[in-house]
Amino acid sequence: MDTLDVELGDRSYPIYIGDGLFTQKELLLDLLAGHQVLVVTNTTVSPLYLDKILAQLDGLNPRALELEDGEQYKTLDTVTRIFDALLEQRFSRNSTLIALGGGVIGDITGFAAACYQRGVNFIQIPTTLLAQVDSSVGGKTGVNHPLGKNMIGAFYQPKGVIIDISALTTLPDRELKAGIAEVIKYGLIDDSEFFEWIELNLDNILKRERKVLTHAIRRSCEIKAEIVAADEKEAGIRAILNFGHTFGHAIEAGCGYGVYLHGEAVSIGMCLAAELSCRLDYISLKQLHRIIALLERTGLPTTLPEQLSTNEYLKLMAVDKKNIDGEIRVIVLEQMGKAGLPVSIDTVLLKKTIQDYGVIRSNES
Ligand code: NAD
Ligand code: GLY
Repeated sequence: MDTLDVELGDRSYPIYIGDGLFTQKELLLDLLAGHQVLVVTNTTVSPLYLDKILAQLDGLNPRALELEDGEQYKTLDTVTRIFDALLEQRFSRNSTLIALGGGVIGDITGFAAACYQRGVNFIQIPTTLLAQVDSSVGGKTGVNHPLGKNMIGAFYQPKGVIIDISALTTLPDRELKAGIAEVIKYGLIDDSEFFEWIELNLDNILKRERKVLTHAIRRSCEIKAEIVAADEKEAGIRAILNFGHTFGHAIEAGCGYGVYLHGEAVSIGMCLAAELSCRLDYISLKQLHRIIALLERTGLPTTLPEQLSTNEYLKLMAVDKKNIDGEIRVIVLEQMGKAGLPVSIDTVLLKKTIQDYGVIRSNES
């Protein structure tokens, strides 16, 4: 088992990464607060893993809540369902919420934990690759609003993160690929050697070869933990974790939550943000091609959904937490393996990038 720490002073916490961790009772018990435990999961994950987790909590009379599965349920109404369960069962302040599932369950449960009685103990047990490499680490919690993705939320760190790689054996291929989009993101924003490693090892990641998956998860978590430790509440550098997300969030909200998976929308968004970086002369056309080629080899979408007009994209991108004074700000690559802080992008350039997307790609370098 590997252990990484997210260094945040008295709110520091461990990330455990290994094969078969769901059955390591002590890991979970050490992270609990009192005796009242609610495991929040969904209708897909529950039949696969809930019993395994409940078995580690025997003697505590743990409760479970099964939510509907899907991004479209990442709403305040669903958070209220968690509050209903907690209040009906008289959960007190020293109780623990466990998020068992992907990023949707993690974000909703973390937000409920942040709000219930002004904050209760919270543990992340992520079961998708995307949640294992990204959403379970760093304390961003929240839900969507029809007008904008993740617009209602709180920073609220978990007590610990338990990543059991064996959970990925049941993950559908499409979800695995969506998670790989975020792994590729780390290479692009912070570590060009890791990007090269992904290029070399992609086939084995797709085959879910354990050793290779473990390295991809550990390196991704290391990069995220470092960035979060440096800037927990996104006053600066943490924004680079949103590379591709300004376009991605617009795609998710504009096409309807759940139509594109988060990682798929991020894949398209990274292509647009990389193209913008190329137009600004930070990366070469050859490097742009290399980025798009890796996403395509993964089996991720790289073209913009056509159902939205350029103006609709701009309107959706105007609802983004990185924007200041109504100006759209985007993360671009300063070079391969290094993203810069958000920059205001001239609307004409932004429009041109969206309208002509793809044209520049077909030109020879
Ligand atoms: P998800 O939570 O919807 O899970 C994807 C699908 O896989 C769901 O149908 C789920 O039920 C199923 N599933 C989960 N684990 C499984 C398993 N082991 N076997 C079989 N099926 C399984 O999606 P996701 O990609 O995990 O997360 C996306 C969400 O995370 C988005 O809402 C996004 O905004 C959020 N996110 C948050 C952060 C953050 O920092 N908080 C970062 C990135 C993404
Ligand atoms: N996924 C973006 C962040 O955690 O900051």
